[in-house]
Amino acid sequence: AGDTFKFYSEGEWKVSSSGKSVPIINPTTRTTQFKVQACTQEEVNKVMESAKIAQKSWAKTPLWKRAELLHKAAAILKDHKKPIADCLVKEIAKPAKDAATEVVRSGDLVSYCAEEGVRVLGEGKFLVSDSFPGNERTKYCLTSKIPLGVILAIPPFNYPVNLAVSKIAPALIAGNSLVLKPPTQGAVAALHMVHCFHLAGFPKGVISCVTGKGSEIGDFLTMHPIVNCISFTGGDTGIAISKKSGMIPLQMELGGKDACIILDDADLDLAASNIVKGGFSYSGQRCTAVKVVLVMESVADTLVKKVNEKVGKLTVGPPENDCDITPVVTESSANFIEGLVMDAQKKGATFCQEYKREGNLIWPLLLDNVKQDMRIAWEEPFGPVLPVIRISNVEEGVHHCNASNFGLQGCIFTKDINKAMLISDAMETGTVQINSAPARGPDHFPFQGLKDSGIGSQGITNSINMMTKIKSTVINLP
Ligand code: G3H
Repeated sequence: AGDTFKFYSEGEWKVSSSGKSVPIINPTTRTTQFKVQACTQEEVNKVMESAKIAQKSWAKTPLWKRAELLHKAAAILKDHKKPIADCLVKEIAKPAKDAATEVVRSGDLVSYCAEEGVRVLGEGKFLVSDSFPGNERTKYCLTSKIPLGVILAIPPFNYPVNLAVSKIAPALIAGNSLVLKPPTQGAVAALHMVHCFHLAGFPKGVISCVTGKGSEIGDFLTMHPIVNCISFTGGDTGIAISKKSGMIPLQMELGGKDACIILDDADLDLAASNIVKGGFSYSGQRCTAVKVVLVMESVADTLVKKVNEKVGKLTVGPPENDCDITPVVTESSANFIEGLVMDAQKKGATFCQEYKREGNLIWPLLLDNVKQDMRIAWEEPFGPVLPVIRISNVEEGVHHCNASNFGLQGCIFTKDINKAMLISDAMETGTVQINSAPARGPDHFPFQGLKDSGIGSQGITNSINMMTKIKSTVINLP
């Protein structure tokens, strides 16, 4: 298949029998950067069968040995920082420094997971029967955590490496085998990351990676009878997967419309820098990006001015130059963002900057005086476009946050911790940040979304637990 990257099955790099490939379009040049194999359903079957077989002996491999291999993979991953980061720059236009940070963060995540795993999985419970009414002390219950089997991991384009290892490492330390279906944009970075696990020496079939079009192998993977658990991060596809998948545990991290509520006593400089960092880093293509600012009218003019000063300093251009704002991932994404901007313009939003677009590159834009009837008040642009809604009381802000179909994170800026706690309690989101922008990390913190934002909770410890099941053995005394 010439310059087409191979997929990873049964511990080997393979060319698909389909003879077809999937192009990866560089968001900056809008030309084909790489190609990956378009795997067939038969190839998926083979991967699943080998994953199922490999898992049985992997689960019996001592925990400390599994941890040792993960530590090895983490070190190799960090050694390969440069080529992997280069792929991220070319495949998803992630700014060069952020791309390198993603790889290092991933190595750290894998190591932390190995350390956490030996502790979390190295202990169980001991229960006695006579604490429950009517029982004598004749039953001893021992619990341990056992793997689920084969885990299917589907990460998104915005963190093809980090959100892959956040599923791979907990799965493997817990004794599961893992099948990865990377996003098309970011697939080569993910294949390179998988190569690091290959070099670390994981037994064949314990980790595999299939590439191809979601439309061809997506449903086949998610509905595959061998899959015992799906960990997915992405958009609406997650909702479709949850409806089609079988009776298996799901871990889903989907969209967000993270609200940033600014009270009148807030440190406005702190709020402004967090709004710009939270709203515009990686051009707003993060599920945890600040996606709507809800500011008290009394401080709105000052805040908007401060935010605009900072927006004016953002650099715009190619990811190779480490610009703050880089082309968004696809042309259709840019078109979608533009649709939201045009709708807001038609309905009378105030444009703080001129709207400008060249190809997939959209200049950062703050939209003030956004009203409830505008699509951008509710929809997730996943781009460098941020709406500001002016509110006359806190309740209005909380109401807007809770009226969203999403419930990932939110943030509050105030100097009054008592107020902050009450507002946090009232916000229907998985996490509320006080005086900082929303963020998933540090990666051992719990991370979860309510409503359409997800199922279950992530974070290293939660993911390890989620990818195991409790097994009880009861000793019955005579
Ligand atoms: O896009 C979704 C990610 O989980 C966000 O992660 O907060 O580290 O950017 P982040």
